[in-house]
Amino acid sequence: MTNNTITIAVDGPAASGKGTLSRRLARHFGLNYLDTGSLYRAVALIALNDNILLDDETALSHVAGSLSDDVLSDPRLREPGVGEAASKIASLIPVRETLLRYQRDRAETAPGAVLDGRDIGTVVCPEADVKLFVTASSEVRAERRYKELLSKGQDVTYDDIFAEIERRDARDSSRSAAPLIKAVDAHLLDTTNLDIERALDAAVYLVNQAIKA
Ligand code: CDP
Repeated sequence: MTNNTITIAVDGPAASGKGTLSRRLARHFGLNYLDTGSLYRAVALIALNDNILLDDETALSHVAGSLSDDVLSDPRLREPGVGEAASKIASLIPVRETLLRYQRDRAETAPGAVLDGRDIGTVVCPEADVKLFVTASSEVRAERRYKELLSKGQDVTYDDIFAEIERRDARDSSRSAAPLIKAVDAHLLDTTNLDIERALDAAVYLVNQAIKA
């Protein structure tokens, strides 16, 4: 705990359920919540709309430094094509550095926050009070994301979602800048056979153990 704030870092591969879990954890502990993937997705959405090349570091870090609340709540952020473009942009160091400041500011705002992403426990908040690494089998993750997008009326197939998730995980894990990796001191939470309520119970237990210690 720093300056009376609590930081909970939640990382994991695509569609592992970390967003839902983090939102519920934040509500349970009365903390703020930051979906850091939405920052990368917002930069990607603007790049796609404005025809900015996905390797144009200067233009994209400028975009990253001026994200509005409107773009951060745009429903198109969840589209698979935007996730794919976000993962390409996420390998650019200037973009990551610009977004790093925003994420740390949010983490340090009282009463603290749950942040979910890929590098929260390793790079953004290495001193987090609790770190969780949430995962599930590729098949289960693809199924969950497929159902989520179908329920939002999107025209998607399971096979395309499965392929997109595998491609993104491979890119996110192999990049040199802040790759997707479990922090050594993170607790592994495999939700393949857990519904959200059981995953939440397990996460609440781990957080309570850590903040009591
Ligand atoms: O919701 P989902 O797990 O599918 O993805 P997301 O968390 O919205 O992240 C979209 C993309 O942003 C990821 O594939 C990563 O490439 C990138 N990202 C990142 O590099 N670092 C973060 N802290 C969060 C997201």
